[in-house]
Order: sequence, then structure tokens, then C-alpha cells
Amino acid sequence: MASSHLFSLLLLLLFHPLPTTSIIHKATLFKSQPTSLSSHLPLTTYFEVTKPIQIPKTKPCSYLLLHHDFAYTYTKPPILSHYTPPSDCPSQDFSKIVLQWNATCKGEQYDRIFGVWIGGVELLRSCTAEPTDTGIFWSVEKDITRYYSLLMTNQTLAVYLGNVVDSTYTGVYHVNLTIHFYPAEANYDSDGFNSVFSGGWSGLGADLIVPISRNLPLNDGLWFEIENSTDVESKKFEIPQNAYRAVLEVYVSFHENDEFWYTNLPNKYIAENNLTDTPGNGPFREVVVSLDGLVVGAVWPFTVIYTGGVNPLLWSPITGIGSFDLPSYDIEITPFLGTILDGETHEFAFSVMNALNVWYIDANLHVWLDKCSLKTEGQLLSHNSLPTAVSLVLNFTDLNGNFLTGASRSISSTGWVMSSHGNITTNSTQAFNYTNFMVMGNDGNIQIVNQVIDFNDSVYAMMPSSFSLSIESFKRFPLYLYSDYVDQENETYSMVTNLTLGFNEERVKATGFGFFVSSLKNLQNGQGVMLVKGHSVVSGLGSTQQAYQYDGTKFCYFRNVTSSNYTILYDKVDNTCSKKNRPHVGFGLAKWWPFPARRAFPASSM
Ligand SMILES: *[C@@H]1O[C@H](CO)[C@@H](O)[C@H](O)[C@H]1NC(C)=O
Ligand SMILES: *[C@@H]1O[C@H](CO)[C@@H](O)[C@H](O)[C@H]1NC(C)=O
Ligand SMILES: *[C@@H]1O[C@H](CO)[C@@H](O)[C@H](O)[C@H]1NC(C)=O
Ligand SMILES: *[C@@H]1O[C@H](CO)[C@@H](O)[C@H](O)[C@H]1NC(C)=O
Ligand SMILES: *[C@@H]1O[C@H](CO)[C@@H](O)[C@H](O)[C@H]1NC(C)=O
Ligand SMILES: *[C@@H]1O[C@H](CO)[C@@H](O)[C@H](O)[C@H]1NC(C)=O
Ligand SMILES: *[C@@H]1O[C@H](CO)[C@@H](O)[C@H](O)[C@H]1NC(C)=O
Ligand SMILES: *[C@@H]1O[C@H](CO)[C@@H](O)[C@H](O)[C@H]1NC(C)=O
Ligand SMILES: *[C@@H]1O[C@H](CO)[C@@H](O)[C@H](O)[C@H]1NC(C)=O
Ligand SMILES: *[C@@H]1O[C@H](CO)[C@@H](O)[C@H](O)[C@H]1NC(C)=O
Ligand SMILES: *[C@@H]1O[C@H](CO)[C@@H](O)[C@H](O)[C@H]1NC(C)=O
Ligand SMILES: *[C@@H]1O[C@H](CO)[C@@H](O)[C@H](O)[C@H]1NC(C)=O
Repeated sequence: MASSHLFSLLLLLLFHPLPTTSIIHKATLFKSQPTSLSSHLPLTTYFEVTKPIQIPKTKPCSYLLLHHDFAYTYTKPPILSHYTPPSDCPSQDFSKIVLQWNATCKGEQYDRIFGVWIGGVELLRSCTAEPTDTGIFWSVEKDITRYYSLLMTNQTLAVYLGNVVDSTYTGVYHVNLTIHFYPAEANYDSDGFNSVFSGGWSGLGADLIVPISRNLPLNDGLWFEIENSTDVESKKFEIPQNAYRAVLEVYVSFHENDEFWYTNLPNKYIAENNLTDTPGNGPFREVVVSLDGLVVGAVWPFTVIYTGGVNPLLWSPITGIGSFDLPSYDIEITPFLGTILDGETHEFAFSVMNALNVWYIDANLHVWLDKCSLKTEGQLLSHNSLPTAVSLVLNFTDLNGNFLTGASRSISSTGWVMSSHGNITTNSTQAFNYTNFMVMGNDGNIQIVNQVIDFNDSVYAMMPSSFSLSIESFKRFPLYLYSDYVDQENETYSMVTNLTLGFNEERVKATGFGFFVSSLKNLQNGQGVMLVKGHSVVSGLGSTQQAYQYDGTKFCYFRNVTSSNYTILYDKVDNTCSKKNRPHVGFGLAKWWPFPARRAFPASSM
């Protein structure tokens, strides 16, 4: 008998005793390609559905940053190389910089988390695709233009991908990492406007990016590892005294006992049923970020499912939302700038409420500097951060029952910064809601999870008299997961799963010159059956349907794609902005100020 049925076998398999009582597992693909595909056929290409990066029409300066074969790299130092900015490009004025990760792999292998850092600044957090015995290829492109200032200096490049290769897990990841610098077109204006608020508020990259990560040398990634709910990891830093804006970009990923944290069972259920090795602490997690002991923001993360998660057949070849390019989360630090402009050392700290082993967290502090003064000044005017209120309603008898977990929080801060741009008062607010309804049936062998996270951020920057600016983001992450586990004895089990995973975000940016709106609706449905022996899927079927709809001020992108049994059945791409979907573009802020209270999604929609 099993009772929570997801578990991660990634490293547990090799370095820890196996958990035996968790429903959702991580598995590898084992000889699971249809036998009709023979080895002379081209490698299957895996991909994540996302909008294409809008690049200028200029010819890029491209060069290889790294070529490496990741074999037994677990607990070894990251792969390092010297990073130098492009020196022989005709132009040194770039409007787009793109990082490209290409990889091939063949054999059997787990999904491995990896990170790419330049100068300790994380540029990409990602997960490898699980290979097959006929071989796979995948390519991830990421717009890294926001790291412009960093990329114009000599640095150390570090890539950590902790792989393990032995007689069973034979897959070696062969990787090419390339960077593309696109010279600006004449009159190119990346954001469509340039604001009186200058670079820091117009969307251009920061002048300085300070890594809030672990220092080399290391025998693993540069991320901090958070192992439990009391674990706090921190980093000291300094910034120049003429900063006028700062944003902390936070990267998170969750592994082992918390890989499927949203399915973790309440401790009371685990204790009363005498379960052992079942990941607990319930299904709510919150990453908390503090600056010199003051909570400056939180992250309620999107439920990224890695390529070996739930049922790996779902992710071949369409991979899970965010799995090839994990989202990072921006926290506005400007209201607190006044407290860190003294030229002294300060400290960011990270913790995770209810954490189980292990969370990988680090951050990049993007700082904009006042080119017309050596010293700015500022002050935090107000700060409100009530601790997260978590409610839990338990209703169970033995292994059957249901649990309703709810949480909400808001964090808001206001501060002013006086620079050559004037005295700008910034108000930053984060608001979160969370519900998770979980049902355990059939003596713990059926688990149904229904979760929704609402995660809203808003930043208002106000000049005393004239212009104001706002940046708002309304995010909703729905998740539905049904899993039915049947023990087949002899270390074999079968599992039926149904999944719905969504990432929705509406952004509104308003300046003195107009406002810019974008909306993203990204939804995956999957149905899978599989027979797993040990940790390998020996047979099964996965079907995935995905609809991705992005509507922006400058372009739109729609893709509807379905796959079943490794085969793309339907794939439709449309770049036209339908009248209905096209976001409203307005000019003249006066009509629009003060900012109306907005609700991104009707309460009924998911
Ligand atoms: C990476 O993959 C893309 C897409 O297949 C290809 O066009 C490009 O040449 C590859 N780059 C390298 C360095 O392998
Ligand atoms: C990496 O680049 C080399 C040399 O161009 C090429 O032979 C190889 O196929 C590439 N590998 C991947 C994974 O793109
Ligand atoms: C950056 O590195 C290159 C190549 O090693 C070297 O030629 C150049 O002088 C370095 N630039 C700086 C500013 O250190
Ligand atoms: C939590 O993790 C930290 C860091 O590994 C460790 O020092 C501490 O003992 C752990 N606390 C508990 C309660 O397990
Ligand atoms: C759990 O263990 C206790 C003590 O051994 C025992 O009294 C109880 O019946 C067990 N409960 C279940 C559900 O097995
Ligand atoms: C508890 O669960 C049972 C079985 O699912 C259900 O019939 C009952 O209404 C639930 N009670 C409450 C208070 O939710
Ligand atoms: C920030 O602005 C919001 C909306 O105008 C307001 O509700 C909140 O109280 C402000 N926060 C602070 C700390 O002033
Ligand atoms: C900036 O504006 C704030 C709020 O209006 C005010 O309290 C502060 O004194 C001003 N600072 C300077 C240097 O003028
Ligand atoms: C959270 O829920 C409350 C009560 O329903 C609502 O007022 C608030 O706007 C919600 N916040 C978010 C971020 O969805
Ligand atoms: C389990 O394996 C043993 C030995 O290989 C075999 O005798 C037995 O029939 C198997 N049981 C099942 C349920 O497949
Ligand atoms: C799972 O998905 C299948 C196929 O869409 C559907 O027939 C079935 O009713 C679903 N089951 C659950 C419990 O969601
Ligand atoms: C995607 O395509 C399928 C198959 O044609 C269709 O049934 C579905 O409605 C489409 N979804 C969207 C959002 O257009």
C-alpha cells in the first residue's frame, strides 16, 4: 500500500534510502520510444511552448560560450570558463542579447536541474529533458538583454548540471551554449518609449547587477540550499551610493522531498496513519526575502513540473510549462534604497515556509545608478508586512479524506529616493492568495489536488508634481492533478494521471507617454498511464494538449499543439492579433490616473 504517491527519485535513488509511500514519483524513460523508430532517424526534438523572442533585423554577433559533455558531474565543481564581451562586432550598441542552450542526450537518465551564471549572476535556471534510447535534442533560447551591463565586462561563466552516469543511467548531456548579440537597428527603441524617468523606469537594463549567490569555488551550484523551514541562507553585499532604483530578481526551484510540494500531505494525516518516508508539511510553501531582517517581499512559486515528474511520457516532446526556462520573480527594492545607500555592507536572506529538503534559491540585485551625481539619498516611509495566515481544514478517517489549505498575504512598502531625476516616491505592493483542496481516496492510492495561486505585484513611482509611472503584474497559477496508483508488486506499480497546469499573467505598464498591456494565457492538459518498474517507465502512454495565447502591445502569438505517444498530432501557430484579444493601447496618462483597482481574472475563470 502506498499513500502520498509522488516522489522524487532523482538523487534519492543514488544517495538516500528510497521513499516508499509517496504517490507522485519521478521516473525515467526506459526503452519507451516506439520500436519503429530506429536509430538512423534524426533525434527527436523536445520543446517548451513559448513566444518567440522579438529580435531586430540586424545580423547577430554570435559565439560559443561553452561546449561540454556532462557525464559524472554531480558534487563536482561547476564547469567554468572565461567570459569576454564581444570585441570584433561592427557595432557595440546591442538591442537584444540572446542565450542559447542546445543539448543532445541518448540512453536513460533523470531530469537534472542546472544553472548558468556569469559573474555569479544567474542567467538561466532550467531542467534537462529525459532522453530515450534513440536520442533527443532540445534548444532553449532566453532573452538576456536585461543583463546588458554585466555582459559588457569580463567575467567567469559557470554552469552546474549535476549528472550521474553509471551502468543504468547512461545518458550524457552534450551541450553547446551560445550567445547572440543583435546590433540595434537605426532608431531602435526596445520598449517603444523612453521615459523621463530614464533607464531605470523605461525597461532598459540596470547599470550594475550584484550577485546574491554563493561564491566560487563550490562543488555544486551557486544557489543556496534551503533544507527545512528554519533554514535561513543569506548573503552580504554593498551597492554604490548613487543608486536610484533597485530590483531583486529571485530564482527558485524545488527538489527531492519538496519537488511536488503542492501534493505534500498534512503532518497530522501522516502521523495518525503511521506513514514513514512520506513528504509532509502540507501543500503550502512561501519563499520569504528579507533585507537586514526586514521582509521586503515573497515568492509564491509557479508549480514547475520537471521532465521526469508525474509521468515523463507527458513531457515528450512537449515539455512542462517553465521547465526549460524556470520563471524568476522580481521584487522592487527601491522603497528600501534609503536604508542601503550608506556605503556599508547589508544582507539579503532567504527562507521557505514549511520547506523540506531541498530548495535551490539565489538572486540578482539589479541596480540603476545616477550618472549625474555621486550620492543619492532616500528614506523608507512605510512598510507593512503581516505574516502569512495559513488555514487548514482536515477531514479524514484513516487514509481517506480531504484537506482544504488556504493562505493569503500582502507586503507593501513606500519610500522616496532623491537623485538628479528628482524626488521619486515609490510604493511597491505584493498581494497573494492561495487555496489547495486535496482529496485522498481508495485508502490513499488516489490523490486529487486542486490548487490556485494568485500573485500580484504593483509598483507606483511618483514625482511630486508631474509624471507618474506604474508597473503591475497579475498572475494566476492553476493546478489540477489526479493520480491513481496501483501497486503491482515486485517493485512495480501502475499509475493513471490527469493534469491541468496553467500560467496566466496580465501586465500593465503606464508612463507619461501611454500604457502598455500584455496578457498571457498558457494552459496544459495531460493524461497519462504508465507502468513503472523500479524507477523506469517500462510502458505507457502520455497525451498533452497545450494552448498558449500571448497578446502584447507590440505583437501577439498563439500556439495550439497536442501530442500523444511521442507524436505531435496537431500544431497551429498564429501571429495575428485578433481585434478581440488585442490589448487596449492608450496614450495620455491623465485619463488613466489614479490607477483603477484592477482584477486580472474573473473569480470564476481558471
Ligand atoms: C542550436 O540549435 C539551433 C536549432 O536547431 C541551431 O540552429 C543552431 O545552429 C545550434 N547551435 C549550436 C551551437 O549547436
Ligand atoms: C555542438 O556544436 C558542435 C560543433 O558545431 C556540433 O558538432 C554538435 O552537434 C553541437 N551539439 C549540439 C548539442 O548542438
Ligand atoms: C578581457 O579579457 C580579454 C581576453 O582575456 C583581454 O584581452 C582584455 O584585456 C580583458 N579586458 C579587461 C577590461 O580586463
Ligand atoms: C535545518 O537545516 C539547517 C541547515 O542544514 C540545519 O543546520 C538545521 O539543523 C536544520 N534544522 C532542523 C530542525 O532540522
Ligand atoms: C499507529 O501506531 C500506533 C502505535 O504503534 C497504533 O496504536 C495505531 O493503531 C497505528 N495506527 C494505524 C492507523 O496503523
Ligand atoms: C468530510 O468528508 C466526507 C467524505 O468525503 C464528506 O462526506 C463530509 O461532508 C466531509 N465533512 C466536512 C465537514 O467537510
Ligand atoms: C501603496 O499604495 C497602495 C495603493 O495605492 C496603498 O493601498 C498602500 O497603502 C500603499 N502602501 C504604503 C506602504 O504606503
Ligand atoms: C522627498 O519627498 C518625500 C515625500 O514627499 C519627502 O518626505 C522628502 O522630504 C523629500 N526629500 C527631499 C530630499 O526633498
Ligand atoms: C485575495 O482574496 C481576497 C478576498 O477574496 C481579495 O479581496 C483579494 O483581492 C485577493 N487578492 C489576490 C492577490 O488575488
Ligand atoms: C514477482 O517476482 C517473482 C520472482 O521473479 C515471481 O515468482 C512472482 O510471480 C512475481 N510476482 C508478480 C506479482 O509478478
Ligand atoms: C482523466 O482524463 C480522461 C481523458 O480526458 C477522462 O476521461 C477522465 O474522466 C479523467 N479523469 C479524472 C478523474 O479527471
Ligand atoms: C486547439 O485545437 C484543438 C484541436 O483542433 C481544438 O479542439 C481546441 O479547441 C483548440 N484550442 C484552442 C484554445 O483554440
